[in-house]
Amino acid sequence: MTDRMKTTAVRVLVLHGPNLNLLGRREPETYGIVTLSQIDERLRDLAGVLNVQLETFQSNSEGALIDAVQAAMDRVDGILINPGGYTHTSVALRDAIAGIGLPAVEVHLSNVHAREEFRHRSLIAPVCVGQIAGFGWRSYALGLQGLVDAITQKREG
Ligand code: DQA
Repeated sequence: MTDRMKTTAVRVLVLHGPNLNLLGRREPETYGIVTLSQIDERLRDLAGVLNVQLETFQSNSEGALIDAVQAAMDRVDGILINPGGYTHTSVALRDAIAGIGLPAVEVHLSNVHAREEFRHRSLIAPVCVGQIAGFGWRSYALGLQGLVDAITQKREG
C-alpha cells in the first residue's frame, strides 16, 4: 500500500430507498425505532473512524435513485444501498448499479430471507459485492465496513 492510498479518504454514497424516511414510525416491530437521521448520524461517526467521506440520500422515487447512482459514477468510490421495496422489483436500478461499474453493497434492516417469499429475491444483490440483512441499523454499519474493505482491496490491486 502506498502512502497516498493510506491517506486518501474513501468516498461513499449511501442511498436509502422508498419508505425508509419513515423509519422509527414505520412497522417498528420489523424495522426498529431508530430513525433515518439517526442511522445517518451513526454512519457519519463510523465514517470518521474509517477515514470515509460520506454522502447520504433518500428518495421514494426510482428515477431519483437511478439519477443519484449515475451522478455518483465519477465522484465516489462505492455505494452502500438499501433499495427498500425496489430491491425486489427494479431492473432499472440494478442496471444503473451494474452500469457505473463501482462496488456496491446492499443492506437491509430486516432479514428479508425470513420474511414473505417475494422478499427472498433481490434483483440488486447479483450486481453487488455482497448483501447484509437482518441486523437492524447495524446492517448499514457492517455494510459500510465491508464496502470500505472491498474498495481498499481494489485500490491495492
Ligand atoms: C427493507 C426490506 C424490503 O423488503 C422492504 O421493502 C423495505 C425495507 C429492509 O431494510 O429491511 O422497505 O429494505
